[in-house]
Amino acid sequence: MRKKIVAGNWKMNKTFTEAEELLAYIAESIEKETPCEVVTCPPAVYLEMATDFAMESNLLVGAQNVSQFEGGAYTGEISAAMLDSIDVNYCIVGHSERRKYFHETDEMLAQKVNILLDYGINPIFCCGEQLGEREKEIHFGVVRSQLQNGLFHLNESEFHNVVIAYEPVWAIGTGRTASPEQAQEMHGFIRSLVTEKYGKKVADDTTILYGGSCNAGNARELFSQEDVDGGLIGGASLKGEEFIKIVNSF
Ligand code: 13P
Repeated sequence: MRKKIVAGNWKMNKTFTEAEELLAYIAESIEKETPCEVVTCPPAVYLEMATDFAMESNLLVGAQNVSQFEGGAYTGEISAAMLDSIDVNYCIVGHSERRKYFHETDEMLAQKVNILLDYGINPIFCCGEQLGEREKEIHFGVVRSQLQNGLFHLNESEFHNVVIAYEPVWAIGTGRTASPEQAQEMHGFIRSLVTEKYGKKVADDTTILYGGSCNAGNARELFSQEDVDGGLIGGASLKGEEFIKIVNSF
């Protein structure tokens, strides 16, 4: 069955006390049944605190990044084994900010996906075109190649554990959301690529999230699109009340 998910990507925000307050608020707010899985992706230093909250609530926890290496002399890196050892459930892979500022290549992303799956952590694999690519009308080709190079080497049972997030780069942090029609068009396209590669059953079960200036005001319309199964939320995930409104937007 296809899962609905709302995931908050805090990026590089919040001090320890602020993180604790926000986690406590979210965990408490989702005590009762929620219409979707709720995932929080705080900075790595707060992951263990988040998994402690998760133990007592419905909260699930995601990391924002993982090393492509198994372990050893890689100063500053965090391994999949470490994430697994504190019960992290998800990990964002290939966010456009990591592709841009940290020069992550498709090849590195494929390695990260593999190592996460080895440790039973579900990748949230990001794809999405830049503004110039949409203007040149090559956005479908860009997304196709990101998926082919970063994900489609997986076999069917591995792929089953992957969540895809479509995040058009021009919509991230800009206040300029993709229209529900633009989101649906790309999500439908992504599902058709998954169908071509893995068949209809797998494609029907694949969760495809939208990310890019999604907030409490526009989430309901975006999530009502046939192929939009939830959101990967940046700025609006930093405010507890707004994040919970988004969670309740199905
Ligand atoms: P914003 O919601 O701040 O646009 O960020 C989206 C994002 O990058 C989530 O990963």
